[in-house]
Amino acid sequence: MEIEFRYDMTGVDWKDVTQTLQSVGMSYHEPDEHCRAFAASHTTVFAYREGRMIGFGRAIADGVYQAVLYDIAVVPEFQRQGVGTLIVQKILERLPGCNVILYAAAGREGFYEKFGFRRLKTGMALFTNAQVMTQKGITG
Ligand SMILES: CC(C)(COP(=O)(O)OP(=O)(O)OC[C@H]1O[C@@H](n2cnc3c(N)ncnc32)[C@H](O)[C@@H]1OP(=O)(O)O)[C@@H](O)C(=O)NCCC(=O)NCCS
Repeated sequence: MEIEFRYDMTGVDWKDVTQTLQSVGMSYHEPDEHCRAFAASHTTVFAYREGRMIGFGRAIADGVYQAVLYDIAVVPEFQRQGVGTLIVQKILERLPGCNVILYAAAGREGFYEKFGFRRLKTGMALFTNAQVMTQKGITG
């Protein structure tokens, strides 16, 4: 499968980002909010197949020693074909020297373990939607 990866946001239809996140069961926002969040990120990666966006991801980071991954998603029909792996690899390539953290959706930990991510024992989060995150199994 031929996939093109783009690091800039030109031409992104933010409605697709909202729709994709919703379709895979991840937190989603208004298209304009995703646009603002990606624009404020250190690294953004978008995967395209024949002109269609099929996945994306981003990191917020200081670019020196700390980074956090967010919004890693692949359109359902293209999952399990290596696209998510390439998205994460391309983000990590742009974060040399950084500690990288993330919180995985419950059940997705195995995907990140393949890159060497380990479980945090002292991770703490102050979520705006605290109750939902507990229901999703992300907080205790
Ligand atoms: C999780 C996700 C980004 C992975 O992307 P993908 O393109 O489907 O994954 P890949 O095809 O690159 O898979 C790479 C490896 O991870 C494994 N893997 C994929 N999804 C997995 C999962 N949910 N749990 C455990 N392992 C998984 C694959 O089996 C594969 O292993 P292999 O190389 O030994 O065969 C994608 O499935 C997705 O968007 N899921 C829904 C949204 C989501 O949960 N995002 C992450 C939020 S933290």
